[in-house]
Amino acid sequence: MSEVEADLMQKIVSLCKRRGFVFQSSEIYGGLKSLYDYGPLGVEMKRNIKNLWWRDMVHRRRDVVGIDASIIMSPRVWEASGHVAGFHDPLVDCRNCKTRFRLDHAPRDGDGKPQCPECGSHNLSEPRQFNLMFRTNLGSLEDTSHTVYLRPETAQAMFVDFSAVQQTYRLKLPFGIAQQGRSFRNEIVVEHFIYRSCEFEQMEMEFFVRPGEDEKWYEYWKNERLNWYGRYGIRPENLRLRPHEKEELAHYAKACSDVEYRFPWGFAELEGVANRTDYDLKKHSEHSGKDQRYFDPDTREHLFPYVIEPAAGVDRTFLAMLVDAYVEEEVKGEKRVVLKLHPEVAPIKAAVLPLVRKDGMPEKAQEIVNLFREAGVNAFYDEKQSIGRRYRRQDEAGTPFCLTVDGDTMKDGTVTIRFRDNMEQERISSKEALETVRKALVSGRQTALGG
Ligand code: GAP
Repeated sequence: MSEVEADLMQKIVSLCKRRGFVFQSSEIYGGLKSLYDYGPLGVEMKRNIKNLWWRDMVHRRRDVVGIDASIIMSPRVWEASGHVAGFHDPLVDCRNCKTRFRLDHAPRDGDGKPQCPECGSHNLSEPRQFNLMFRTNLGSLEDTSHTVYLRPETAQAMFVDFSAVQQTYRLKLPFGIAQQGRSFRNEIVVEHFIYRSCEFEQMEMEFFVRPGEDEKWYEYWKNERLNWYGRYGIRPENLRLRPHEKEELAHYAKACSDVEYRFPWGFAELEGVANRTDYDLKKHSEHSGKDQRYFDPDTREHLFPYVIEPAAGVDRTFLAMLVDAYVEEEVKGEKRVVLKLHPEVAPIKAAVLPLVRKDGMPEKAQEIVNLFREAGVNAFYDEKQSIGRRYRRQDEAGTPFCLTVDGDTMKDGTVTIRFRDNMEQERISSKEALETVRKALVSGRQTALGG
């Protein structure tokens, strides 16, 4: 990462902390390096991202249903899926400086030999395989027969529950099962803030198709998912699809492409779209002894569907949206920091500000805030400091609209609406303020209303 890029990451981390987007977990105890808490603004934005994904992947489609499965599943699930035997990172120790690191992340010398990333020594231990799943015990006995795992991906529940969901809903191929939720990986290398952590949220969908139709659906979902990020404000030039090389493919995948975002340190994965073939349903059939085939009522045959899986990360989407939205501008000789977030992603939709703290303006502003809140639109009331300072605070929080209540509001019932991105202002009726903001949110408008 160059100095400018490192500086941008630093600015984003510090904005997140200062404004209550993301904090280090357990900070008063010195913090835990790879775990994070989302504050009041962060939790709103994260929910918005998850709701948009659910809206587009489940509610707006006729062929996808959702589930919400438990985080701890039978340990036999992870034996069948291959995670107990194969979900490993190769770890080595530097005998010189005692640093422990991932062999596949180590720098190489001219002959391709690995070196310690800390001291450059070649004096390294043999690699040991380290399983990334967190183990815990179910029940009161700390006996190995009770060892269970925190799920490292949400996907397996969609395979294990496949028959139950298909049969209760009489679903016909092609159809998808979606889930959002926490996953856990004991990552050795934790890096780039919330990009890689040990506890994170996934948004995954398993799309079951007829064998032979898998390649067509793989193409479909790759494009669909790439475009999704663009729809919510990420600039197209910062997004790309990267097909995996053969050696990179997971053991279950026939093909995989990553949707990548140009983070300050370079292009990196936001989401993987994989063709998982019939690997998982077959494995669960073998291991459970329960036939997981789909019965096709038209051809009267039993078959194992193929699976196309778009698997996204909430935290990575969150970070990419913040990085993409972060802008520093000169306004009248002063620096303005603004998050040009898509209005549907922004944590607060409208801030309502009385120009001064007298003449009935605070009461009028509160009235407008209440109207918004009752309608389920997240609005914020702020009367502290000058109006200019309050605008700047909302710019930094990514609030697309500010409504100012002033002397004229008390006379003719109009308020000023200020647009975050170009700072233009218009007067609208305070009665219509909610409708105006609501329409602008739906259309994704971030600038003046015009006409
Ligand atoms: N079911 C397939 C699967 O889990 P993955 O590529 O390992 O595939 C999917 O994970 C997505 O989950 C990634 O693209 C990423 O967005 C997110 N993710 C994975 N590990 C993560 C971590 N340690 N921290 C944050 N997000 C992570």
